[in-house]
Amino acid sequence: MLERIGEVAAEARRSIAGAADEESLRELQVRYLGRKGEVTALLKGMGGLPPEERPRVGGMVNALRDELTAAIEARHQEVQAQEIRRRLAATPFDATLPGIPRPVGALHPLSHIQEELEDIFLSMGFIIPDYPEAESEHFNFEALNIPDDHPARDMQDTFWLDLPGRLLLRTHTSPGQVRSMREFTPPFRAIFPGRVYRYEAVDASHEHTFHQVEGILVDREVSVANLIHSMKVLLAEIFGREMTIRLRPGYFPFVEPGFELDIRCTVCGGGGCPVCKRSGWLELLPCGLIHPAVLRAGGLDPGAWSGWAFGLGLSRLVMMKYGIDDIRLLLGGDVRFVEQFRKV
Ligand code: DAH
Repeated sequence: MLERIGEVAAEARRSIAGAADEESLRELQVRYLGRKGEVTALLKGMGGLPPEERPRVGGMVNALRDELTAAIEARHQEVQAQEIRRRLAATPFDATLPGIPRPVGALHPLSHIQEELEDIFLSMGFIIPDYPEAESEHFNFEALNIPDDHPARDMQDTFWLDLPGRLLLRTHTSPGQVRSMREFTPPFRAIFPGRVYRYEAVDASHEHTFHQVEGILVDREVSVANLIHSMKVLLAEIFGREMTIRLRPGYFPFVEPGFELDIRCTVCGGGGCPVCKRSGWLELLPCGLIHPAVLRAGGLDPGAWSGWAFGLGLSRLVMMKYGIDDIRLLLGGDVRFVEQFRKV
């Protein structure tokens, strides 16, 4: 028996080392390790041995089986490597030829600017919670001091969902004001970037779907001076330089006082051009001090807490930054448009 094991081992080692291709290795695998193979036959032949010898001989056969399995695998890899080297040598390969270009995607300009703004605000200690686009009538309107019969609702007609609970597609990111007051303990500061919807007659400057970034700060004794200073810092960060601004009174039911904050036209510098409709100013950032009714809706005592809020038109900012004159291009899904922003 021992002799036979030695013979099988020697012969198998020799054949494996000499196998030149995958086919012969497969055959050797069957010949030695298959169900009717020689090693298997050795194991079966152990029945004829005296019982006290079986463990030792069995151990030897098992070791042989493991050795041959590993040897076949190792030889297999060598054979494959040889085959690859052979094919490379046979194919003239010119390493100086240009590669095959693979199309690479890019961020949409809206995502790109949104990420830029998020970085700026994060660095100033703002949090960025995410709130639903399918919003309740309560958070979109009532909690923001816009009751059912309020004329401000006419300007923000929207898409209502045919579901129980009076759900609608949010018309602005302002619902985040009340939602965040309920979620976080003041003082805190937060921005809510996102998609908003309106029932619009679509044209070059109106879309039914667009993007805003809302921001709020809630603290004790926040003043108009705080608001204006903060807005100037924000704008300087966004545009990378000090911006000249102008404040006009603006009416939004959820702030009091409310302002329209305009910046000196970035195209003509204030002299007047088609972009600023010859006024020299661009409307960019409506803002104000949070109305006491809104603080109350957020569960806060207006005697103890105050705050400011702003609503930045993200779509508008993207259009200004890249000189895009038709808002329909932003979400139109035309790759010829999006491809132009590969390098942004
Ligand atoms: N939600 C308003 C809109 O979409 C924009 C707005 C105005 C937001 C004033 C504010 C604000 O936070 O203070 O028209």
